[in-house]
Amino acid sequence: MSKFWSEVTRLTEPYVPGEQPKVKNMIKLNTNENPYPPSPKVLAALKGAVDGNLRLYPDPTADELCEAIAKAYDVAKSQVFIGNGSDEVLAFSFLAFFNQGEQILFPDITYSFYPVYANLYRLDYKEVPLNEDFTIPVEQFFHAEGGVIFPNPNAPTSIGLGLEQIEKILQNNPDKVVMVDEAYIDFGGESAVPLTRRYENLLVIQTLSKSRSLAGLRVGFAFGNEQLIEGLNRIKNSFNSYTLDRLALVGAKAAIEDTAYFEETRSKIIETRHRVIGELRQLNFTVLDSQANFLFMKHGRVDAKQIFETLKEKGIYVRYFNKSRIDQFLRVTIGTDEEMNRLMEELATGILS
Ligand SMILES: Cc1ncc(COP(=O)(O)O)c(C=O)c1O
Repeated sequence: MSKFWSEVTRLTEPYVPGEQPKVKNMIKLNTNENPYPPSPKVLAALKGAVDGNLRLYPDPTADELCEAIAKAYDVAKSQVFIGNGSDEVLAFSFLAFFNQGEQILFPDITYSFYPVYANLYRLDYKEVPLNEDFTIPVEQFFHAEGGVIFPNPNAPTSIGLGLEQIEKILQNNPDKVVMVDEAYIDFGGESAVPLTRRYENLLVIQTLSKSRSLAGLRVGFAFGNEQLIEGLNRIKNSFNSYTLDRLALVGAKAAIEDTAYFEETRSKIIETRHRVIGELRQLNFTVLDSQANFLFMKHGRVDAKQIFETLKEKGIYVRYFNKSRIDQFLRVTIGTDEEMNRLMEELATGILS
């Protein structure tokens, strides 16, 4: 605390990101990164862009990248907004579309950045309890005073919501923005992007951090009707016109265009997930049906925190949330087959006995 802090700084409760430990040879399954490197075409594009032009500002409208994304997702360029990671897109979206004094809704178990943004902007919010089985109680998100946000699939539960259910939420909030955070959509969910053509109140947010192996480049984007995108640009241009640097712009474009590599790596992750879920269930874990690149699981007998700590001692980092309802669960990112084999070995030989 400092006497120089503004009231906002004093009252802010910042987000705490997952650990980024500097331990050699660790197996990192704690922040839902992709275990495979970015496409070789991305690395080549990045190397090609390291030149004297870095003295110049990047394109503030990210024109070429917007065009590539619009083409890949079959929407108009005017329906795409790009930001420095989807966290930034979310931060701008809360400011662009939610009003103070009008309660917004999000699930009680969800991405923990949402309450941080809500508090930062002094927004009223209600954390709607998920059903007992951690599915989203769709009707509870109808008639929101201020708007709605949820991830699909949800994090950390990994459970996806079908488009029919999402449409019901949209139809029952015709005058409020409904944000669907699709950070993990490429691992098996059904994207709501096509619905942006029919629902003027829908904003879909995606990222290159997970399915395109580019958490380190910081690129996120949003899809919505032209007026929503214009609103986001108004906010962005009131903070910083150049949110994406020259390298991020070219690297992201190459990632979007390399669909073969994207398909190959995401299929590998889905296959590994399928196999590991079966093996974990044999070890007496309850594993929720995942449509994401991570698992949410609890053991039938052994305490989650104990498993978390023992794995950490063995150099395997997973995520534990000391929060009611989920304090017996672990969130485990899907790694390579070799990494998951190491995890299974450690669990089977010792930790659970
Ligand atoms: C649900 C959800 N949304 C958004 C993000 C942010 O992703 P990024 O800022 O890397 O695009 C994450 C990251 O873990 C997430 O889990």
